[in-house]
Amino acid sequence: MQSPDLAQYLDQIQSYFSQQAELVGPELFGVDISRLDQLVLSQNSVQIHDLEKAVQNCQKCKLAESRNHVVFGAGNPNANLMLIGEAPGAEEDKQGLPFVGKAGQLLDKILIAIGFKRSEVYIANILKCRPPANRDPNPDEIEQCQSHLDQQIESIQPKIILALGRVAGQTLLKSETSLGQMRTQTYQYAGVPLLVTYHPAALLRNPQWKKPAWEDVQKLRHMYDSIVGDKPAWSPSQNKK
Ligand code: URA
Repeated sequence: MQSPDLAQYLDQIQSYFSQQAELVGPELFGVDISRLDQLVLSQNSVQIHDLEKAVQNCQKCKLAESRNHVVFGAGNPNANLMLIGEAPGAEEDKQGLPFVGKAGQLLDKILIAIGFKRSEVYIANILKCRPPANRDPNPDEIEQCQSHLDQQIESIQPKIILALGRVAGQTLLKSETSLGQMRTQTYQYAGVPLLVTYHPAALLRNPQWKKPAWEDVQKLRHMYDSIVGDKPAWSPSQNKK
């Protein structure tokens, strides 16, 4: 069976069980209705997998000519937290994975410091292909790539988004606001709460920004806990040895 059929199939099974649940109550054939959640979860994985397959051949902009790999995104397809960076760099282009270079190593440390494993979150970029010599993305490249990101967000359905850096923030907000301004506000993108902070590569170049970035990610963690609320509220002292 082709995976698009599988997604439809899961949809049909899910609505069948929903109808049955309405008719016969929360338990069906001895199965707790909470199992339905698991069907929805598998559907996210199928959708994101199908989308990735489609984007692997993308020829919508000139970056297709110079890329080694499409860097679609990686992580938990059921993530509550989604991080969005700018575009793949050299190492990401080589490996086909987001944030695997020096900036990615710092990102991993930041995530750990606020109690997240990389495997828990989903990481994507505004552009799926590397701009030559890491130049800023061009507006037409951003425009062509935006639907991939929007579909990713639609599949993953994160509860909160963190934009990493000026380009990601300005693209999602369709604004020219400075990073300094953006990081002080909470926004929404596609109905999902959105915070903006420094790009890890910028933190490597400007270590004096690490303190405000730490404040941003603590705010993110607290917001995450109040929105998702699936574990006791996190506090920075939990990471002190
Ligand atoms: N910088 C980004 O914005 N994204 C990556 O994936 C790597 C570096």
